[in-house]
Amino acid sequence: MMVKKLRFCEWIVLCLLLLPVAVYSKNHGNPANDLVDIINSNRTSVKLPKLNDSPGLGCMALQYVKLCKDNCTNNNAVNCKPPEDDFIEIFALNCGVELPTFGTITGHMVGCQSKYLEPPQAFSHVLVKDKKTLSLMRNKSHTEVGVGLVKGAHKGYFFWCVLLSSDKINSTFVLEDHGKGVKQNEGCFSGSSYQCSGGEKTTKTALSINNIIMILGSLYVCFLQHF
Ligand SMILES: *[C@@H]1O[C@H](CO)[C@@H](O)[C@H](O)[C@H]1NC(C)=O
Ligand SMILES: *[C@@H]1O[C@H](CO)[C@@H](O)[C@H](O)[C@H]1NC(C)=O
Ligand SMILES: *[C@@H]1O[C@H](CO)[C@@H](O)[C@H](O)[C@H]1NC(C)=O
Ligand SMILES: *[C@@H]1O[C@H](CO)[C@@H](O)[C@H](O)[C@H]1NC(C)=O
Repeated sequence: MMVKKLRFCEWIVLCLLLLPVAVYSKNHGNPANDLVDIINSNRTSVKLPKLNDSPGLGCMALQYVKLCKDNCTNNNAVNCKPPEDDFIEIFALNCGVELPTFGTITGHMVGCQSKYLEPPQAFSHVLVKDKKTLSLMRNKSHTEVGVGLVKGAHKGYFFWCVLLSSDKINSTFVLEDHGKGVKQNEGCFSGSSYQCSGGEKTTKTALSINNIIMILGSLYVCFLQHF
């Protein structure tokens, strides 16, 4: 009987050790990619063509929100106007966009919230929340899209940005180093070959606190059964 109980405890401990691994892989996805999928399925629902997922545009969208991550107003608007020249002189450079391939940006949508939102909520509550942004997203002439998101400087705040371009050729905003570009130290962007850095920190922290509570709870049950 004693041995059986010990086995039971061992199983629980083993499962608990494996749990963080499972949680990690579940959260492994890139919310910026999810947003590109949501944008494209919203467009195809009204028979518009899909937009090309451009990692170069995505990385520049991330630069945009990184620059603006101090400037969320009380009504969740981003009060920030990066100078036009920043796109080439700072954003492209920080991303490793090959300058001869720099195209024309024909639309941007940007927003912030006092907390992290899952991609479908970020789409409908932050990025595409009125007629003006909906018609921008559904503009026929767009061909490429990139999404970036980052945790703000103030507690809990998150920032999202979508950049759109209408270039006819399929070779704009190309990232150097065979499309990998410069590795980013924070946030997420669509089409990236790197994982997000801290883009989902809130969710992860919440989950790990749950894990700790579960671990302590199970150990307590084990302890009670054992003695
Ligand atoms: C952010 O807001 C501050 C204060 O309103 C302003 O001075 C600053 O220029 C804004 N930043 C950008 C990049 O627009
Ligand atoms: C769509 O985008 C193009 C290029 O930016 C612009 O010239 C045009 O006015 C837009 N159309 C609509 C319906 O907003
Ligand atoms: C597309 O997005 C708009 C704005 O968020 C929303 O009202 C609409 O229901 C969406 N359409 C589909 C098919 O998801
Ligand atoms: C552009 O490139 C993407 C990804 O490399 C590809 O899936 C798509 O078919 C291309 N589109 C055109 C019009 O060449």
